[in-house]
Amino acid sequence: MNLNETSLKISTTPIIAMASGKGGAGKTGMTLNLATLLTQQGLKVLVFDGDMGLGNVDVQLGMAPNKDLGHVIAGQATLEEVISKSERGFWVIPGRSGHEQLPFLTALEQRDILKELRNVAGAFDIVIIDVAAGVGKEVLTLVEYADRTLLVTTPDPSSITDAYAVAKLLKVRYNKATCEILVNNAGSEAEGRMTYEKIKTAADKFLGIDLPLVGIVPHDRQYAAAVKMQKIATQAFPNCDAVHALTTIAKKIAPKREKQAA
Ligand SMILES: Nc1ncnc2c1ncn2[C@@H]1O[C@H](COP(=O)(O)OP(=O)(O)OP(=O)(O)O)[C@@H](O)[C@H]1O
Ligand SMILES: [Mg+2]
Repeated sequence: MNLNETSLKISTTPIIAMASGKGGAGKTGMTLNLATLLTQQGLKVLVFDGDMGLGNVDVQLGMAPNKDLGHVIAGQATLEEVISKSERGFWVIPGRSGHEQLPFLTALEQRDILKELRNVAGAFDIVIIDVAAGVGKEVLTLVEYADRTLLVTTPDPSSITDAYAVAKLLKVRYNKATCEILVNNAGSEAEGRMTYEKIKTAADKFLGIDLPLVGIVPHDRQYAAAVKMQKIATQAFPNCDAVHALTTIAKKIAPKREKQAA
């Protein structure tokens, strides 16, 4: 991608991290569906695959990029050069690579890649980082770096506990309280609400922080079927329940357009 094609803005572009603590909560799927929906709203969206070890954003999009973050880490490309456009209309920094020798975080730090990402972000309306599972330093660094974090949790108690752990570590280590809760895979609206209340109450009581709810996405067989077809639900089943819920969430996270001067 050539950023000269687009007018570089002073980067006030929001960078949103999609994290969960526990694996399999739905981060990658939420990232790709929200990116698609935001693109459909006319926004220019960049997805950064922040799961270097097991990142599979490009695979799920059926992309075969010839350059990825591994090349950036190896000093063989700039971040800008590895950005490619997906068929869904948004842009991707692919994370999958066989080149990396250094741990991901050390590599990112050594090459100032996160600083570079801030600069690159100026050419987009919104950036979404698909963060790896876990609560390791790599995860926390990306969550701390982001302007907002959507913490994805399912009603599974261990998923709630792990999402809470991310919010807690962010608060305790970095004194940041920028997480919002996205309940995914809810069996019903009531189960989704109950899941949210559990994490909200704990954060309120033990951390003294407010964790707003960004939305509840139901368990949806069509959503799962789309993943198996290597498709995005928004594309394969645009009218399914999960996509309806995600549409509301996309509207909530879309950066507000500045009002035209009268
Ligand atoms: N709302 C939903 N309804 C049905 N199935 C879902 C839903 N959300 C996620 N899944 C299923 O859960 C699985 C994991 O989703 P996804 O890969 O997005 O999670 P992840 O958090 O990125 O996982 P990892 O931690 O391994 O990166 C997928 O196979 C997907 O089909
Ligand atoms: Mg994932």
